[in-house]
Amino acid sequence: MKLSASLAAIAFVIAATPTLAQDAKAGEAIFKKCAACHQVGAGAENKIGPVLTGIIGRPAASYAGFKYSKSMAAAGAAGHVWDADSIFEYVSNPTKYLRALLDDPRAKAKMRFKLKSQQDRRDVIAYLASFKVADAVMQGSEEITTLAPSDTPGKMCVTNGAHQQHLFIVETADVRTVEMLAPGGMFCADTDQGGKISVFEQPDDLEGCTRLMAPDKSNTLVRYMEFDRCEWSSHSQ
Ligand code: HEC
Repeated sequence: MKLSASLAAIAFVIAATPTLAQDAKAGEAIFKKCAACHQVGAGAENKIGPVLTGIIGRPAASYAGFKYSKSMAAAGAAGHVWDADSIFEYVSNPTKYLRALLDDPRAKAKMRFKLKSQQDRRDVIAYLASFKVADAVMQGSEEITTLAPSDTPGKMCVTNGAHQQHLFIVETADVRTVEMLAPGGMFCADTDQGGKISVFEQPDDLEGCTRLMAPDKSNTLVRYMEFDRCEWSSHSQ
């Protein structure tokens, strides 16, 4: 399998959780099983299960608008926060996990799914960890800049680290890409030369912020401000 540039970018993010040997790219394929019930990433919505964007570091039963089981709500109320290890245990047997956690033999999980393979569990967690940028956005953290991948060989990437969705236009010598990004959303354009990026508060706005982008870099919009005063974090060294 060829190591793609985007995988290299993801690998940078998950380097922060060195305890598991894992493969985010393989995890993307495993996630198809979870995707019967869960969505993750830009534009994700609650389905049969809650949105999993930013699940690592997120308190249990805390995603807005999802109706959790009593047992999961109890786990959240008890202060349970998801990390790689606890998700690893949970997905192998959700009911067993909640019973042990709550010390309640009658606790019951709403998630009717078990993922047995340890490697599959590690990989899917690595994949989920690659959405950490959005996690920081949801928690309103200022740390977002340090979580974005810094080097994206052959590409320039942009992340919407602001709290609202915005319209992004990336122009390189060859292509112009228009993309509506939800908070935490990211996209990349292939280029060796860099290009120009514009961001608009609303799709039909005529004025926004513009900025030149170096190749092989990732840029994060931290805050949208009128009159071309947007705050960015770039990773240019
Ligand atoms: C058949 C549907 C289904 C599948 C498939 C499924 N889940 Fe779930 N998941 C749920 C439901 C429903 C909940 C809410 C559980 C509750 O309230 O007890 C949930 C909850 C979770 C939570 C806790 C979320 C929170 O906000 O506290 C995690 C983590 C999770 N699932 C991970 C996964 C992963 C990883 C996979 C794939 C390996 C997966 N799930 C597959 C239905 C599913």
